[in-house]
Amino acid sequence: MSEQRSAQWYAGGGKDPYIHRAWMRRGLPAHAFDGRPHIAIANTASDLTPCNMHLDEVAAAVKQGIWEAGGIPLNLPVVSLGETQVRPTAMLWRNMAAMATEEMLRANPIDGVVLLGGCDKTIPSLLMAAASVDLPAVVIPGGPMITGTFRGVPLGCGTSTYRLSEEVRAGTMSREEFLASESSMIRSKGHCNTMGTASTMGLVAEALGTTLPGVAGTPAPDARLLEASHATGRLAVELVEADRRPSTILSRGSFLNAIVALAAIGGSTNAVVHLLAIAGRLGIELSLDDFDRTGSGVPLLVDLQPAGRFLMDDLHRAGGLLAVLREVRDLLDPTALTVTGRPLVEYLDTPRIWDPEVIRVRAEPLQPEAGIAVLYGNLAPRGAVIKPAAASPHLMQHRGRAVVFDSIEDFHARIDDPALEVDADSVLVLRGCGPKGYPGMPEVSNMALPAKLLAEGVRDMVRVCDGRMSGTAFGTVVLHVAPEAADGGPLGLVRDGDPIVLDVAGRRLELDVPAAELASREQSPAALAGYAAPMRGWQRLYIDHVQQADTGADLDFLIGGSGHDVGRESH
Ligand code: FES
Repeated sequence: MSEQRSAQWYAGGGKDPYIHRAWMRRGLPAHAFDGRPHIAIANTASDLTPCNMHLDEVAAAVKQGIWEAGGIPLNLPVVSLGETQVRPTAMLWRNMAAMATEEMLRANPIDGVVLLGGCDKTIPSLLMAAASVDLPAVVIPGGPMITGTFRGVPLGCGTSTYRLSEEVRAGTMSREEFLASESSMIRSKGHCNTMGTASTMGLVAEALGTTLPGVAGTPAPDARLLEASHATGRLAVELVEADRRPSTILSRGSFLNAIVALAAIGGSTNAVVHLLAIAGRLGIELSLDDFDRTGSGVPLLVDLQPAGRFLMDDLHRAGGLLAVLREVRDLLDPTALTVTGRPLVEYLDTPRIWDPEVIRVRAEPLQPEAGIAVLYGNLAPRGAVIKPAAASPHLMQHRGRAVVFDSIEDFHARIDDPALEVDADSVLVLRGCGPKGYPGMPEVSNMALPAKLLAEGVRDMVRVCDGRMSGTAFGTVVLHVAPEAADGGPLGLVRDGDPIVLDVAGRRLELDVPAAELASREQSPAALAGYAAPMRGWQRLYIDHVQQADTGADLDFLIGGSGHDVGRESH
């Protein structure tokens, strides 16, 4: 075998390699140090990340594959983020998780890494880390849970929660009925079963070429996930021997393929910030406009909640991502590689659609043009995004008067006030929720509608926010407004009653107030409250260095990579 990176720690007869070997000899045989690839399993299993709790089982299968192929598997627990658990928002910690994982991959005697993720931020942070270290790396998405049902009706994680809670607020469902659905929704191991961010990022990781093709979307309890994990362990050894690294696999074409996939599956808007951040780590040119240019004309082919009806185990049963991509093969970059060393398109000859209700053929899409639209205007000089697949067609061209909230707490305090001046044509504006302003850019943009309008039967309104939205959410929501209010963006200048114009076809988001009037206004100080709060540690570092959503919300000093060389010895 060729000389491995880990040999810099282990090879030789001196004191230093003696120390490195001796402390690792707790079950590892002497031949573990004869030049075999040492493969870390970056494992986000955690009891506090419920969607990833099963990843130790996945890691065990990966280990077997690595041993079988002649490598040495090493479990490496890394920072794990449970989307439903951590406060104030998991996104605040994505860059911290990426930074910590990057440093541990670089600092340790490893030659390659298998990345085990699932819940929303875990695959993005792992890919950002691997890109910056540039060691051979392969992802295993932990997979979605199987569908839960309540009174005979399938429940989509998140999506059904929003719908049912709106029914309670509208008075069409009792609280007792609502609470009775709780234990029916989360029925097995795995991440959310809607086309939320976790499902999206697993599938996007496959479209990027970073997984074994065909694995993403395999339900977490499915025996085939363990089989694929074993095979991925074997592949990790091959990656090291072939020196196949993120920088040699991923190209601009890989990211454009991911954007095509994102549109065809009706994926989460969160993929925009994550893909921009991953590309930034690799130095690959990718902009917000690429999502509109490449994705907006792509048909929506997957009928999954929140845009449609079905759930992730239906998608897997119907043929999975490769069957979807086969329908849009002509839109894919044929040169973009996968971790196997072969182009992604070479895996599209045999997949078939087994249920055309779940995966539509290209000629009969759910929507002819489904990708994320990027809006500009005096309210979003650096851009904002909207997911037309989750929006209401009748609101895509809209003019309405602003009802402004300076924080999510302000919103909760006033949205159900009977005296609030709001009607179905109003535009709900929420600010102070960007990367710096919250801080951490929480998933609050899909604001709940006023109870009095819900009671009248209103089910969607135009909403504008500098935060993010859960991938499981739906509605005519303009989000990721950049720059955010706390960074001096014009969102901070909006006042109640100002006319706002949304024109999705024209890609415009305008505040219809004379420029001279806007110039005379001051930023809302209330929207800066989160930004101005005293803080230390990571939050201080984050606020001082986080970039805006239009470039991926990474920290300025984490963009790019530092490779995997460590010149100095530890003792
Ligand atoms: Fe983990 Fe939805 S909460 S994927």
